[in-house]
Amino acid sequence: MKEQIEEIKKKALQKIQEVKDSKELNDLRVNVLGKKGELTQVLRGMGSLAPEERPKIGDLVNKVKSQIEMQIEKAEKEFAKRELEAKLEKEKIDITLPSEKVKRGSKHPVNRMIEKIEDLFVSMGYDVVSGPELETDEYCFERLNLPKGHPARDMQDSFYITEEHLLRTQTSSVQARTLMKYKDNPQPIRIIVPGKTYRKEDDATHSHQFCQCEGLVIDKKENHVSLADLKGTLEIFVKEVIGDNLDLRFRPSYFPFTEPSYEVDVTCFKCLGKGCSLCKQTGWIEILGAGIVHPNVLKMNGYDPDVWGGFAFGPGLERLTMFRYGIPDMRYLYTNDIRFLKQFDRKED
Ligand code: PHE
Repeated sequence: MKEQIEEIKKKALQKIQEVKDSKELNDLRVNVLGKKGELTQVLRGMGSLAPEERPKIGDLVNKVKSQIEMQIEKAEKEFAKRELEAKLEKEKIDITLPSEKVKRGSKHPVNRMIEKIEDLFVSMGYDVVSGPELETDEYCFERLNLPKGHPARDMQDSFYITEEHLLRTQTSSVQARTLMKYKDNPQPIRIIVPGKTYRKEDDATHSHQFCQCEGLVIDKKENHVSLADLKGTLEIFVKEVIGDNLDLRFRPSYFPFTEPSYEVDVTCFKCLGKGCSLCKQTGWIEILGAGIVHPNVLKMNGYDPDVWGGFAFGPGLERLTMFRYGIPDMRYLYTNDIRFLKQFDRKED
């Protein structure tokens, strides 16, 4: 029996040297030391031995067992080490490779335009204010000298939500809101109001939602906020935000909240005045409405028209954006084609 045990030991130790991976090693462990393993089988045969032989054999088996176990453990550690090394080698990161570029969105051209206008007017002492897009009929029309049933209401086809509420058709509503805010303590006002507006229109050149930027300047009459000031302001505005090679043209027009009223055109950016399809061969493109604030508007919103006066203007921002960046079709601004927007990635102005 002793020889048998020695033989098992010899064979097992030799096999441990030959084993190629941890799976084979585990099989070996089961075959030799497991419940049905070779060494266990030997122990089972102990019954047939003389009683004085049993402890000796038992002792030997235990020794052999722990020897084999030790060797298996050693081999196991070696395999684990090798496997780890292989893994590290395989998963090595090449830190010299250029990293993948982080994809970032870019500012929308209309938002760039808004920031540009804000910077300009803030530098001239204006405040930037906002008002609700869901507006009341009162602020959108009535307090702007447009009572219910007034024919000029047809100029702006509106989205009514209830009898009294609508999506504002013009940022002019914030003129009335600002005047009313100070009605108990009238004071000079110099504000711009960039924001979204809505009208029931959808043809090739109009969108149901667009942006405007209202401007309102009110001061004591003795300080003469005149038509000349409006013109000068708009000239600076156009030259700064669109380009200084463009001319301005004031055309008499009608708005219920200004008197006199004007529509202001600039030289067509595409043909520079020669006439093209964009400007319908006129050489001019309309960009805003403006005028001297109507006395009724002042009166209705708590400012005495004998003491106070001023001007207001309201450009549409999509047109200005098209001018500034040379965008030939307004729809590019709304389809959000990534290839279009990407062109503005690096333009910081
Ligand atoms: N609110 C007018 C429009 O939407 C523009 C405007 C603003 C006209 C301020 C005069 C003064 O057409």
